[in-house]
Amino acid sequence: MFNLDNKVVIVTGSGSGIGRSIALGLAQAGADLVITELPERLETANETARQIRSAGRRALVVELDVTDVGGIGKMIEQACDYFGRIDVLVNNAGVIIRKKAVEVTEEEWDRVMDVNLKGVFFCCQAAGKVMIRQGSGKIINIASINGMIGSAERSSYTASKAGVINLTRTLAAEWAEFGINVNAIGPTYLLTPLTESLFAQETFKEDYLRRQPIQRIGKPEDLLGTVIYLASSASDLVTGHTVMVDGGWTAV
Ligand SMILES: NC(=O)c1ccc[n+]([C@@H]2O[C@H](COP(=O)([O-])OP(=O)(O)OC[C@H]3O[C@@H](n4cnc5c(N)ncnc54)[C@H](O)[C@@H]3O)[C@@H](O)[C@H]2O)c1
Repeated sequence: MFNLDNKVVIVTGSGSGIGRSIALGLAQAGADLVITELPERLETANETARQIRSAGRRALVVELDVTDVGGIGKMIEQACDYFGRIDVLVNNAGVIIRKKAVEVTEEEWDRVMDVNLKGVFFCCQAAGKVMIRQGSGKIINIASINGMIGSAERSSYTASKAGVINLTRTLAAEWAEFGINVNAIGPTYLLTPLTESLFAQETFKEDYLRRQPIQRIGKPEDLLGTVIYLASSASDLVTGHTVMVDGGWTAV
């Protein structure tokens, strides 16, 4: 049920942090990977690919800025030319700008929306066209607890992640007839390059442990069970759902 042998999975932004961890976890579960990363960070993608190959799976590295819609189409083409199909898309690439709402510039707002929401939509669209032809596919969008709850100094980020959660529901409704499941994951704060500076602040760490019933700092590996479940046939009747992997943060 949880077997991913020879499944072809694309993970965007998989040169570091959560993306790399997801790619490696899926490879260990039997999948072959398309690793995408920003052109200036290709070295990190090559390192992820090296680790996947040493786990005995295949890996293709493709450079991609998810804000470049033409580039997304080319990445999907390359993936199909190389592997012949796309079974799973994990939309992981994301950015955050932490700033008081009154100070956010138009450029900053657009940047976060372009990467976190527009990028996710057009990756879904391009992979979705292939999956519709195949009559099967799984899409997993990495949202956040910040898509479910508000959070000071994260206006563009929370709006983008809430958008991802409702986009997930809409695509699930639209593509169910083609055998495509579209789900999301809402992680709590996990220790990655994106949050290193936050966890370095004692007050943030204390507040985190106070708000989260499971009182430990989350790691990217905490998402792997959910990712494998949503990528596998074990979740065939699950769609439009956001699984909160948040230590109970949004439950209380
Ligand atoms: N770390 C957390 O606490 C946390 C919590 C909830 C959700 N998330 C989400 O998880 C995802 C991964 O975050 P992370 O913590 O691993 O961050 P990270 O900064 O380590 O990784 C983000 C990756 O996305 C890539 N990326 C950034 N902009 C891109 C673009 N325009 N095109 C293509 N790739 C791009 C980066 O190069 C990087 O590899 C993000 O969507 C983030 O919002 C993170």
